[in-house]
Amino acid sequence: MAKSTTQYICQSCGAVYAKWAGRCEGCGEWNTLTEESRTETPKALGGGPRGGRKIELVGLAGQSAAPPRMPTGISELDRVTGGGLVPGSALLVGGDPGIGKSTLLTQAAAALAGTGVSVAYISGEEAVAQVRLRAARLGLTDANVGLASATNLRDIAATLDDPNGPKVVIIDSIQTMYLDSLDSAPGSLSQVRACSHELIRLAKTRGFALFLVGHVTKEGSIAGPRVMEHMVDTVLYFEGERGHQFRILRAVKNRFGATDEIGVFEMTDGGLVEVANPSALFLAERRGNVSGSCVFAGMEGTRPVLVEIQALVATSGAGSPRRAVVGWDSGRLAMVLAVLEARCGLALAGNDVYLNVAGGLRIAEPAADLAVAAALMSSATGTPVPADVAVFGEIGLSGEVRPVSQADVRLKEAAKLGFAEALAPPRRKPRGGKAGATGKGDQSKTTEALRVREVGHLQDLVALFPVDALAQKAGEKADSGTKGSKDRAEAAGRQRDDG
Ligand code: TYD
Ligand code: MG
Repeated sequence: MAKSTTQYICQSCGAVYAKWAGRCEGCGEWNTLTEESRTETPKALGGGPRGGRKIELVGLAGQSAAPPRMPTGISELDRVTGGGLVPGSALLVGGDPGIGKSTLLTQAAAALAGTGVSVAYISGEEAVAQVRLRAARLGLTDANVGLASATNLRDIAATLDDPNGPKVVIIDSIQTMYLDSLDSAPGSLSQVRACSHELIRLAKTRGFALFLVGHVTKEGSIAGPRVMEHMVDTVLYFEGERGHQFRILRAVKNRFGATDEIGVFEMTDGGLVEVANPSALFLAERRGNVSGSCVFAGMEGTRPVLVEIQALVATSGAGSPRRAVVGWDSGRLAMVLAVLEARCGLALAGNDVYLNVAGGLRIAEPAADLAVAAALMSSATGTPVPADVAVFGEIGLSGEVRPVSQADVRLKEAAKLGFAEALAPPRRKPRGGKAGATGKGDQSKTTEALRVREVGHLQDLVALFPVDALAQKAGEKADSGTKGSKDRAEAAGRQRDDG
């Protein structure tokens, strides 16, 4: 007999504690420990026999065909899943409430039904009437989708455990499902884990593709269990900004395809519409041809994210110049300014400098250095960075541009979002090549539709802007007795050519 005392389980990572604490030592999250009964170790519906069968061990080589695929009929969804749904696989679709998960899956269900696949849509959040209302709004009432409103997993399992059952099952959402053998409330870690386990087991034995909808917390992980991400084959995030109509479906994990694929949709009155050319949508968010703006090809965890960096270099009034940074590290900005001055001869130190990462994102990566430098140069010289150029690279104290992680992922994302050119650090390669003049020479490479211009030194970036005018301006402003910026630029240039 198990002791029926209580225990505290982190709803984020699943760590178990005997005592409550404000912070989980396992994952560092706050307020994630909840009290659950100790007897509630998740158990599959029937339990199981004590004695096991012998399993057969086989060799690595063998005849295993590539998994068959069910195209969903929504090409952006197919792209993200790696070419369609795999029978017997489980997909977790995460996203903020109201972002459009139910809309996406209703449309996917209808599209799948249209290809002759039997689909079951089980909603635990909405009544049948509500789901029908959405379908009507989407113009999908004719689709042959089996619809139910249920939350008791025992009933759902009994329905799905059928050799002639549906080939695709959508559970909206996993946080509303419950197993009556557990005491915990729906949405608790025990419930979510046990229900997912049971549904995934059914998907494997009955061979249907399973969609599990999961809510996302403020911090961006799927509510409750990070554990769930390990249980499923594919994790998709459905993201978008409030007030913007675009939505991105992103594969964070995929056992059957690449994880750096994104699907782009637009939320309209008639539901989600696939966006064939995402760059058009994204560039519409920015003002083109404005100086002081530059697109940074960044990474957020495993996800590539392109963000706009805005800089304003203004003539300073009396007193010490102002520095204001939103969304980036002010120490890093000071470093970039210092390197621009010391290695490239550009004196911006006397100016007010403002830096802003558009959209409220906070960037922690040093990889943003080069994009920040480009935005600063753009503002200082009044020269817009072309709207189809993305930039990334870390700047060292001697002005060298260093390789950063995931360059390919960044480039792929930039290419995917329709950018034509990237300014990037040189590839890591055997030493010996001359790291000199940039430009159209052998340093330009092409990745798919994207032209990659390798920037080996901050001076190579500075050379892309009309610095002569800037240097003159600075020279005029500076007292004629002191050494002008132009001289310093030349000195720095000479110094570098020697090296
Ligand atoms: P929904 O799919 O219910 O979100 P989730 O399941 O992720 O919580 O979508 C809710 C939002 O989508 C709602 O605010 C209204 C909007 N919407 C449209 O703009 N157009 C549509 O055709 C539909 C069905 C929803
Ligand atoms: Mg919903």
